Amino acid sequence: MDNLCIVGLQWGDEGKGKVVDYLADGFESVVRFNGGSNAGHTVVVNGSRHVFHILPSAALKSKKLLIAAGVAVDPEVLSEELSLVKSLRTRTVVDFRATTVSPLEKMMDATLEDFRGSSALGTTRRGVGPAYALRALRLSPRVGDLVSDSYDMTTIRDFYKNFLPEVPDMEGWRKKSKMLLEELTGNVSDLVNEINDRNGAVMFEGSQGTLLDLLHGTYPFVTSSGTLSNYVPESVGVPPSRVGDVMGVAKCYTTRVGSGPFPTEMDEAGAQRIRIEGKEYGSTTGRPRRIGWLDLVSLKYAVRMNGARKLSLTKLDVLARLKEFKVCEAYSVDGEETEDFSRCLMEMDRVKPVYSDGWSIKGRLGANGIPGSVQELIDHIEEKLRVEVKLVSYGEDRSMTFER
Ligand code: GDP
Ligand code: IMO
Ligand code: MG
Repeated sequence: MDNLCIVGLQWGDEGKGKVVDYLADGFESVVRFNGGSNAGHTVVVNGSRHVFHILPSAALKSKKLLIAAGVAVDPEVLSEELSLVKSLRTRTVVDFRATTVSPLEKMMDATLEDFRGSSALGTTRRGVGPAYALRALRLSPRVGDLVSDSYDMTTIRDFYKNFLPEVPDMEGWRKKSKMLLEELTGNVSDLVNEINDRNGAVMFEGSQGTLLDLLHGTYPFVTSSGTLSNYVPESVGVPPSRVGDVMGVAKCYTTRVGSGPFPTEMDEAGAQRIRIEGKEYGSTTGRPRRIGWLDLVSLKYAVRMNGARKLSLTKLDVLARLKEFKVCEAYSVDGEETEDFSRCLMEMDRVKPVYSDGWSIKGRLGANGIPGSVQELIDHIEEKLRVEVKLVSYGEDRSMTFER
């Protein structure tokens, strides 16, 4: 069996957690490959809801849970998540090269947002941006450094004294983090390569979404790491040929948390309806998500950038509760129509969506099949994006999933 890479195709919160949990049975291990506890991945089983910020979303299945070198690891959040289920500690390995996030990075995240004032990005304030920045400055301790007895927090504290009004003593945090990470630290690159060498398969779990990618997203309103499938080899430490099949996850409408351009965003009355039906509040911060119609222009870009040949389409039940919905087929920029998202990246504020309307979902969504009206929407998406829709999700519970 081949490896599989799961990525978000929009601005995050597409339902990646649900898809990873659903598909995990076929894999030996699930590897988180980007971001940090800015992510919130929800898995609902028999009505019981679990939100994972740092652990791979296969935590409820008896899989090896790996956290790759390219992840920004907040030991406090990891510790909380590990305490949820007893067996988790023995199944989790964090790469010794992973970047760490301390309370100092969280303070810095908030300070930077305040500094930006009215141009704030609306970050999750989980310290992920400053942690990756410090990594690039070669100041940040890696997981392996925190575990080592010789590591000294003085330099990092002195650095932060230039930017923060008060820099707390970090010894308590250091000791707790060391104790936690000592048990978990390992070599994720070797583990994944070994699994593949004996023909085992792993799943790579992305966080955030394509349009939040640091380089290829709607900069500066993006996150601070790669979010595309091309980040897997670098982050995990495997050759590009081991990324495997790429499956993108997309909602059948669009959401965004935080600031930044959003061509298909709808008016507040419409947004509020979908927000309530779809429980569209941030899994990490609880912020109300901004809501827009399905955007096939940005999705086409996301599919291509990730090399996604498969798609999971989520939240069909939410659209089914609306009388009618729209689908964005093209953008109009200064009166000229285009389906080329990357061409619009420098002029996102002038983009106007061109819709096909009159779409509606009639009939029952269920495990035994999908009604003709959904099939029509899927046909349209498959044709326009050149992907195969393999999974259709029509409710938050694991069981409300239809495989094609
Ligand atoms: P992720 O970050 O991509 O893992 O997505 P989140 O967990 O942040 O947000 C997705 C939300 O939608 C969660 O509350 C899920 O429980 C929920 N969800 C996933 N699929 C479906 C679906 O098909 N229908 C409904 N109603 N909810 C879904
Ligand atoms: P999952 O994995 C949705 C957004 C923030 C903000 C921007 C920068 O659950 O899909 P950051 O804290 O990363 O510096 O914030 O990115 N953002 C997400 N939005 N889902 C996420 O993760 C996100 N992670 C970051 O809201 O706009
Ligand atoms: Mg989320």
